[in-house]
Amino acid sequence: MKVKDFAIDEIFDSRGNSTIEAGIAVGNGFAFYASVPAGKSRGSREAAVVSFAEASSAKNLKRLAALKGKDFSNQRSFDEFLIKLDGTENKRMIGGNVMLGLSMAFARAAAASQKKELWESLQKEFFGKAVQKVWKPVIFSNLINGGEHARNDLNIQEYMVLVETRGDMKSAIEKLISFYRDLGEKLGTMKRISNIPIGDEGGYSLDFKNNFEPLAVLSDLVRKDGLSRTFRLGVDAAANGFSSGDAYLFDGKKVTTPKLAGIYEGYCKKAPALFSIEDPFSERDTTGFALLSKKLEGRMIVSDDLTVTNRSLIEEYAGKGLMNGVIIKPNQAGTVTETIEAVQGAHERGIRTIVSHRSGETDDVFIIHLAKAAGAYGVKIGAPTRERIFKFNELLRIA
Ligand code: PGA
Ligand code: ZN
Repeated sequence: MKVKDFAIDEIFDSRGNSTIEAGIAVGNGFAFYASVPAGKSRGSREAAVVSFAEASSAKNLKRLAALKGKDFSNQRSFDEFLIKLDGTENKRMIGGNVMLGLSMAFARAAAASQKKELWESLQKEFFGKAVQKVWKPVIFSNLINGGEHARNDLNIQEYMVLVETRGDMKSAIEKLISFYRDLGEKLGTMKRISNIPIGDEGGYSLDFKNNFEPLAVLSDLVRKDGLSRTFRLGVDAAANGFSSGDAYLFDGKKVTTPKLAGIYEGYCKKAPALFSIEDPFSERDTTGFALLSKKLEGRMIVSDDLTVTNRSLIEEYAGKGLMNGVIIKPNQAGTVTETIEAVQGAHERGIRTIVSHRSGETDDVFIIHLAKAAGAYGVKIGAPTRERIFKFNELLRIA
């Protein structure tokens, strides 16, 4: 497929954060677009993010002009060309966010040229027939926001419900939407406020007694609403955000790695529905990940900032038994091909993948297609509100 032209634009998420949209015009005259979320709690080894000013500088546009008139036989060859053009380890010349936007736009163009759904063409190029026919993803929906996503006192960044879809996406999403509403009412009554603030990912964001209280509230409501068989709970501690030297500042106290592991273990005892814990320790604390993985066998220990959608990090840490689930965020990697290589690395080692949105999301639905193409265990898409509704709708349409 011949690339005729490209464009880099600035767009804004619903909170007013600037982010990138990229466009590609191909041989038949059609143009395809993709937008990239900004992200707030980033791992240090993620692909570089550049501002719109840098992305659209004369220098960068000149560099990218090498794309014009080039013919690419598939996604991999397009992405490899971009990687070479950038020439740096962390994509700081062109910008990982710019490269990903172009890479996703190319994937859309390729799908259209084959008259296929995006997920079908990705599956065809990268996954072959290895993926199961029926896809029944678990929805990871962040309903209470803390950490860097909220202006409250919670150290833990995300309190999620994990909704089993079991082949009936419509009823799963309906249950989630009514649970989200019930939760708003319950929190309003409990905390005596009529207008609960909403955090970066659409979850409720208010003060709690401590980091456990949101789990107690969620457990209680799951039981009351009779949803124990469909809903489990998860947290994303995003512990980079509250690590301090070798220790952590948690609930106002300084705690060591073993102490924090003990706290998580206690949470699982008090709230047995708690099934998944993401980034329980900082990205430097591999000892913590190993310790918790041993303590909580049978539950999911998920890495995000630790593995940053990087195939070799995933392989290395999976080999050391640090996690059994991994977050896949395309803009941590910076191209579609590298994102998919990370997924493949995880699946080959029996690690579950959860394809994830970010804070500062746009209405782009690419990740839903990627998750389906890969047959991912889960999709992580925030609360069912605002710009995230587009992702829920797409899930409903293609799952
Ligand atoms: P983000 O992080 O704010 O960088 O999107 C979300 C997450 O940690 O999963
Ligand atoms: Zn995370």
